[in-house]
Amino acid sequence: MENFTAPEHRPRRLRRTPALRRLVAETRLHPADLILPLFVKEGIGEPSAITSMPGVVQHTRDSLKRAAAQAISAGVGGLMLFGIPAHRDSIGSGATDPDGILNVALRDLKSEFGDAAVLMADLCLDEFTDHGHCGVLTASGAVDNDATVKRYQEMGIAQAAAGADVVGPSGMMDGQVGAIRSSLDAAGYTDTVILAYAAKYASAFYGPFREAVDSALTGDRRSYQQDSANRRESLREVALDIAEGADVVMVKPAMSYLDIVADVAGSVDVPVAAYQVSGEYSMIEAAAARGWIDRNRAIVESLLSIQRAGASLTLTYWAAEVAGWLNQEAGTR
Ligand code: PBG
Repeated sequence: MENFTAPEHRPRRLRRTPALRRLVAETRLHPADLILPLFVKEGIGEPSAITSMPGVVQHTRDSLKRAAAQAISAGVGGLMLFGIPAHRDSIGSGATDPDGILNVALRDLKSEFGDAAVLMADLCLDEFTDHGHCGVLTASGAVDNDATVKRYQEMGIAQAAAGADVVGPSGMMDGQVGAIRSSLDAAGYTDTVILAYAAKYASAFYGPFREAVDSALTGDRRSYQQDSANRRESLREVALDIAEGADVVMVKPAMSYLDIVADVAGSVDVPVAAYQVSGEYSMIEAAAARGWIDRNRAIVESLLSIQRAGASLTLTYWAAEVAGWLNQEAGTR
């Protein structure tokens, strides 16, 4: 210690009190930046729990309205709807049927909340097909890109007609964004926003989602979703989607792909969203339930990291809860 020299620079000065830390925070969470994914199931009865996603349920039409009202009053930026049909077939007929559950739910919420809510719809066939793939299959069982894109065009129109402000193509078919844009425009839906799941990886972190939508999938989606080994490929996918007319681009999953979020945020001039997916939610909930991590701090830290990487919008199953915390915090200042 005899040669000790007091440090010239003391970064700790700015960390001394909560007020100082708040003053110099580079990133802040806000309810408007959080989007809540919601599941709605066809049929009557009660909402049913999703075992692998504690706290998340498959809603009925009624309970969906209540959950949406609560999220909207907490100030979340938007709601992303997923439908769980009672019947499935090879082409996913329920996705384009105006009386299909997702379209019915969109109409319910649009008539209840009007423009007070930004209503988004997952635009993909996997919840509606009996084989669980995101598209229609060829005779040999491969996912047929161009035939699938035609189904997406019809699905986009059905969703816009039902009241979706935003459609979210998530099937990773080539050319899907351009095709959906042109069919929406031709049908007069020029103001319907396209939030493209632009960089979407074939991920193990979607595991609990499969239970959430009672997915029938056997096999995997590696022939259409991206390989987690790849980074630059995402820039190509994103550039193509923007060229085809995407208004917002999304990276998915979020936490294992923060390098991609940062790359995309640095290379585009449209809003960048990230999807904190089911497995990311379940990992934190499971560890917290065992007392292994501090649940609320882990949630906030995870959301800050996604935003710090460059996402301006985050889809998270905690959106309404976190919005509630943020409102409380705001009330105490
Ligand atoms: C496709 C879709 C999936 C998710 C969102 N949209 C499933 C998939 O691509 O396999 C996953 C979301 C999550 O895991 O939270 N309809």
